[in-house]
This record gives sequence, C-alpha cells and structure tokens, in this order.
Amino acid sequence: MSISTKPRTFEFVTPAARLHVGPRAVGSSARFQPARFAVEPLGPCLGAIVSELDLSQPCDPSLIREIDHALLEYKVLFFRNQRITADHQRSFAGHWGEFEVHPFLPKGGNAAVTRFEKSDKVAGTENVWHSDVSFYERPLLGSVLHAIDIPEGAGDTLWTDMATAYDLLPDDVKELIGGRTATHDWAHNYGVSMGQTRFAAERDRYPIRHHPIVRTHPQTGRPILYVNELFVTEIDGMSALESASLLTYLIAQARVPEYQIRWRWKTGDVAFWDNRATQHYACSDYWPQRRVMERVGIIGDVPS
Ligand code: SIN
Repeated sequence: MSISTKPRTFEFVTPAARLHVGPRAVGSSARFQPARFAVEPLGPCLGAIVSELDLSQPCDPSLIREIDHALLEYKVLFFRNQRITADHQRSFAGHWGEFEVHPFLPKGGNAAVTRFEKSDKVAGTENVWHSDVSFYERPLLGSVLHAIDIPEGAGDTLWTDMATAYDLLPDDVKELIGGRTATHDWAHNYGVSMGQTRFAAERDRYPIRHHPIVRTHPQTGRPILYVNELFVTEIDGMSALESASLLTYLIAQARVPEYQIRWRWKTGDVAFWDNRATQHYACSDYWPQRRVMERVGIIGDVPS
C-alpha cells in the first residue's frame, strides 16, 4: 500500500482570527535518548517524563550536560515522586546559573524560593499564558517547580511550545514581526495594589523593557515567538489599534492545543522548563482547596 505524502484534507483560515484550521506539522523526528536516565516523551513537540534520577543526590557535570540536552530537546522535563528540600531544589537549579529573587511574590524558606500558596483565602491567579518575569532585562532561562501540596484531581499546569508556534506562523506574519520589539511590563498586574512610594521605587528597579518579538534561542538557535499575555502591553512603533490587533493574534498562538501538554501533578513532582522557549498556564480550578508549589528561577540572558 502506498502512503500519500499529503493528507486529503479540507484546510482553511478562519476569517476573523486568521487561525489555520487543518493539520499542524508539529512533530520532531530527532528524539534524544540519554545514557544516564530514561525519558518518555509526552507529546509531539514538547514534554518528557524523566525516570531513574533522584534530585536529592549530587549531579556530576556529564549528568548535567545530559539533562541540559534533554531540556533543550523536550523543553519541559518532569521528575516524579522526588523527596527533596528547598536546598536540593536550589542546588539542582544552580547548575544552570544564578537564582532570581522575585520582587513581588511571596518567598519560601529562603529568598531564592518563590512560594505559591493557595487556599480558600488566596485564589490562584497564574491562569494566564506567560513566560516567567519577561519584564526583567534578563528573564529566566528556566524554572524548577516543586509540588508541595496538590489538590485532589485539579490544579494542572499546561505548557506550550513557542518555537513551534513561531515555525507555523504564516510567512506574511513572520515578515511583519521580524526585527520588531514589544513592551514588557509588570505595572498592570503586580503594580495594582501597590502604594505610590513603593511603585516609584520598584519602577526604578524594574523599568519597562523592550524585547524582540522573535528571539533566537541562545543554545538551539531556533526562532521563538516571544510575546505573552501576562506581561506584554504593546508592539513598539505601531498605532494602538494595529498593535492591539497584532498582539491579540500573536497571543492566541500560545492557546493552540497542538503546541501544548498538560500535567496532572502529584505531591513530590518536579518540573523543569525552558522559560525561553515555552509559556505556561496554571489551571485555577481547585478553589477552595489548598495548592502549594515552590519555584526556583534561573536568570537567563538578554533576549536577542
Ligand atoms: C508559575 O506560573 O510559575 C506557577 C505555575 C504553577 O503553579 O503551576
């Protein structure tokens, strides 16, 4: 039996949103299989479960190289059932660089740990697609997130692959956004409940940033669509109307299910994601149950 190279299909672009309906060729044929641990891919374009690794144990340089290779290939790595402390989490993350100290979110046992502690009194508000702290001059290379207390049957996190999202943009959109920058800011979210004096001090420390809409991954060289709904406020150098409509279109790319994976947490799970190439969304469907996560962020480079 011969297999046709092009599937018989009825493809079109939705008139209002300009979203492609039909096949999305997201698959990667190269799948790295490390020597020191096992990986089980979770989806065609991102995500893998890593087994046979205990993150409470020291990692030697060759193991770190293999984990880094897996991170670049799969973009989000999951380690199940880890018995780790915040110190273990920090020493693991520290192999990739300097820790962030988040200026606005609550801390865990020490300043390098950001604690997301949700309950009947504190609702989860991480349910918007974002890459962590893109308003920094040097946003995070990656984040290591540890599940401390997980609600029954809820509180999943989703990740989306922004390298594939870029690859599958139409050529005219790639041409339009090439060489342009977008404004990244925190004032409309973390700034809303701040007094004027603190706001002025934080504004000095964290000014508005302009990052390329398409950044090049510093290790893989792949172009990445680098705008997110949480922190990007406008496309630079366009009228407000043009900027809003282009931004709405670009932000919608993160919501395409073919680029995504979804993780159902169990207490003790750890996720390590490449924050340069992905965005994530924490489902806020568990209130009034408790959900506690601790994150260590690793400072990355200036997007270019
Ligand atoms: C985050 O946005 O970094 C937290 C994700 C989560 O709590 O699942």
